[in-house]
Formats: sequence, C-alpha cells, structure tokens
Amino acid sequence: MPGGEASIIFAVGELSAPSRQSEGILAQILKIEKLVKVYGAGQTAVRALDGVDLDVETGQFIAVMGASGSGKSTLLYLTGGLDRPTSGRILIGDQNITHLGDHALTLFRRRRLGFIFQSFNLLPMLTARQNIELPLLLDGVSQAEIRRRTDRLLGLCELTHRANHVPDELSGGEQQRVAIARALLNEPALLLADEPTGNLDSKTAGTILALLRQLSDELGKTVLMVTHEPRAAALADVLVLLKDGRIVHRETLSIRGDAALVADRYKQFSD
Ligand SMILES: Nc1ncnc2c1ncn2[C@@H]1O[C@H](COP(=O)(O)OP(=O)(O)OP(=O)(O)O)[C@@H](O)[C@H]1O
Ligand SMILES: [Mg+2]
Repeated sequence: MPGGEASIIFAVGELSAPSRQSEGILAQILKIEKLVKVYGAGQTAVRALDGVDLDVETGQFIAVMGASGSGKSTLLYLTGGLDRPTSGRILIGDQNITHLGDHALTLFRRRRLGFIFQSFNLLPMLTARQNIELPLLLDGVSQAEIRRRTDRLLGLCELTHRANHVPDELSGGEQQRVAIARALLNEPALLLADEPTGNLDSKTAGTILALLRQLSDELGKTVLMVTHEPRAAALADVLVLLKDGRIVHRETLSIRGDAALVADRYKQFSD
C-alpha cells in the first residue's frame, strides 16, 4: 500500500518545521551525540569523526567548514543515513536513525530528508520535471498530487520555463536548482547540502545560496550545509568548524554575510 503509506508520512512532514517556528517555539530537529566514525581497522584505521555533539533547531541554517579530510562529508553522510556510525546517536525529530534497519532507513531518508550534492546527481535521460518527480513516483503518490507539488517547486526554484529540458541543456545553476527542487519534494524535515556551490561560478553560487537562505527564512527549512567558502558560510545562522573529526568552534552569526569574520574564525580554529 505505498500510496497510503506515503500520504501519512507526507502529513508528518507537513506538520514539521514552519508552523511551530512561526509560533515562536523552536523545536530541536537534529541532535547528534558522541558521534564516532572509524573507517578501516588496525594500523590503517582512520578516525573520521571523533566524538561530535551537535544540536540544531528547526529552521536553522548551519554551515560546516573545515580543512579537507576534517570529516565534513562524513558528518553529513551519517546524519543523512547514507552510512552508519561506529558509535554515538543521531536523532532527527524524535527518530533515532542509528536504530533503524536498512529498509526503514532507506524509507526515512527518501521521505524525511533532502540531499543536495556538489555534482547535482541528476539523471541525464530525464527532464528537469521528471528528475524532480522521481522520488514521489517511487513512493506511489498519485499523478495529480505529484504534478501539483512539482509545479509549485518549479516555480519556487524559477525553473518553470526549463521544465522540459534534460540536464545537458541546463546551466550549472539551473541543474542545481533542479536538485534543490527534487530535495524539497517530500517536504523534508532536514536539507543536507555537501558543497552545493562547489561546481558553480561565483555569481551562480550566489543565486543558489540565496535560494537556500530563502528556504530557511520563508519556509522554515532546516539546512545543514558543508562548504569551503567563507562567503557561503557567512549566510548561515550558525558556523560550525571541524578539525580532525572534532568540532573546534561553534558560533551564532549575528551579522549575516560577514565573510571576513568567517575567514578569520576559520584561520583561528581550523588551519
Ligand atoms: N570510505 C572511506 N574509507 C576510508 N577512509 C575514508 C572514507 N571516507 C572518508 N575517509 C577518510 O575520513 C576522513 C574524513 O573524510 P571526509 O570525506 O569526511 O572529509 P571532508 O572534510 O569532507 O574533506 P573534503 O573537504 O576533502 O571533502 C579523511 O581522512 C578521509 O580520507
Ligand atoms: Mg567532503
């Protein structure tokens, strides 16, 4: 009964962030406790995460920075249930995802989380519209409902005029907007973005960052974004700096867009 199941989950998604935040109650959407990830074993073991604790409130935009190899992607992948921790806990809403079996985790990921990657990860044979629709097709949602949600997202991401083009016919910024629309389709509780502007020129990067910021400000979406760029991180609400698998600094950014401050902190804590 995939259709029924999906609509129940969708209802849970719709209840999540914005309404509670607009009432001024900041609910915690993500809680990470003592997270450890060790790749390999023995002499060659790599401790990619070494005891990370992180609390994120609904609607917050978090930027994670750190040198190459500091554990940023590992943190994002574990949070997104794409890989399993060695130890520690990850709670998304009230779901402890570290306790979920493989099938339940796959469903949780598809229905409650949105992923945005540096390389867009679109299917080349499908149009923008089809790429966006795909996760709902897998869940057996009705055609009319899929069309309604996809049209709304095409509009939100300013893609209506490009809906019937395949990725090769789209600019990098347009491709990333398709990926963002796809990530939003299930009304996810949490958006996870790994260097979403890493493949884009600086002007296009600016439009993608503005869209992510808008999702947080206007739709109450929670965004966890990994980036190398101080200019990108400076748009977040909270800056988190990782070094050797540990959080070495966490700061609420009171002035939005202060890239110099972010660059300064990065130099101070993670160089
Ligand atoms: N599948 C894996 N097997 C073994 N080691 C891994 C694996 N994935 C990551 N690592 C190691 O874990 C550490 C953290 O990697 P991670 O990809 O999280 O870093 P990162 O901060 O995202 O780096 P970058 O900025 O280069 O993307 C690195 O030392 C990396 O080599
Ligand atoms: Mg990485």
